[in-house]
Amino acid sequence: MKTIFSGIQPSGTLTLGNYLGAMTHFVDLQDDHNCYFCIVDEHAITVPQDRLELRKNIKSLAALYLASGIDPDKSTLFIQSEVPAHTQLGWMLQCVSYIGELERMTQFKDKSKGGKEAVSSGLLTYPPLMASDILLYQTDIVPVGDDQKQHLELTRNLAQRFNNKYNDIFTVPEVRIPKEGARIMSLQDPLKKMSKSDSNQKAYISMLDDEKKITKKIKSAVTDSEGVVKYDKENKPGVSNLLTIESVCRGVSIKELEKKYEDKGYGDFKAGVAEAVVNILTPIQERYEQLIDSEELDAILDQGADKASFKADKMLAKAKKAMGLGRVKKKK
Ligand code: TYM
Repeated sequence: MKTIFSGIQPSGTLTLGNYLGAMTHFVDLQDDHNCYFCIVDEHAITVPQDRLELRKNIKSLAALYLASGIDPDKSTLFIQSEVPAHTQLGWMLQCVSYIGELERMTQFKDKSKGGKEAVSSGLLTYPPLMASDILLYQTDIVPVGDDQKQHLELTRNLAQRFNNKYNDIFTVPEVRIPKEGARIMSLQDPLKKMSKSDSNQKAYISMLDDEKKITKKIKSAVTDSEGVVKYDKENKPGVSNLLTIESVCRGVSIKELEKKYEDKGYGDFKAGVAEAVVNILTPIQERYEQLIDSEELDAILDQGADKASFKADKMLAKAKKAMGLGRVKKKK
């Protein structure tokens, strides 16, 4: 059985983009793969976080994973900082990474635009930590949205570099990006990715937004003045984004949706998109409410940390041996 690993940062409530680009696909993979899903809290602290908010977001993300359909009997769900092997191998992989290649990462370039004095060094060394997350579990496939492609390429390079230089111990993972929904765009600026860190709340739909909010945000989504519901990413990015959202939420093709809205205006179209999103998110929100304050949630995370540590510690020991860290004890 192939192994899957993916992670999500607990930095604010997840967006519809996180759900459609990543989480919904995790659920489909559980039945015939050995899956690890991680709440990557150590990645979240590469930018400033409020301590209490972060703790709240970690639990909230765990509950959202489960509410979306991650089954703890099939998948291992755990918090990154509860498995110390991640930062340990992360350090070792930093020592295999070059500053130049890390500085070329788009995410680092974007976030450090304000000057390198203003961002943490963790933001630069984030990709080797991400590589560590993946490589500790002999991962075959990493399902992610489009924005993680470059980090995955670096992970593959680091794995190959380590294997060539030290010992052939790491599985070189494949990236899996969904055909549709891999890059859900901002509702206010459809040329920008939908992101939970957007300062304009109207730009994204949070997975916990209620029906009223969802409908309002989609109603105010930026489109164009043509009044035709047609997929054309270049000339009609707003309409194309909404079509993608409805298509993934309803599991119908964009062609079918274009037909559905053939004689309709943007008012009807947006109402249809909002309905599709509400239909997907409402049952998740109901399950979320049952889970968020439950003891069950802690028990699942405890069990997940144990299972993940068992696997990760073995891989860490192999990597330490390959690099010559620690010692060989004399036999008595
Ligand atoms: P993060 O927390 O930013 O996003 C989590 C997942 O959601 C996807 N995603 C999107 N997909 C479609 N449209 C969008 N607008 C959108 N925004 C986000 C992301 O591609 C991702 O799959 N570095 C990672 C977390 C990470 C990780 C890992 C992932 C850490 N270690 C190991 C995979 C394997 C990140 O910041 O994702």
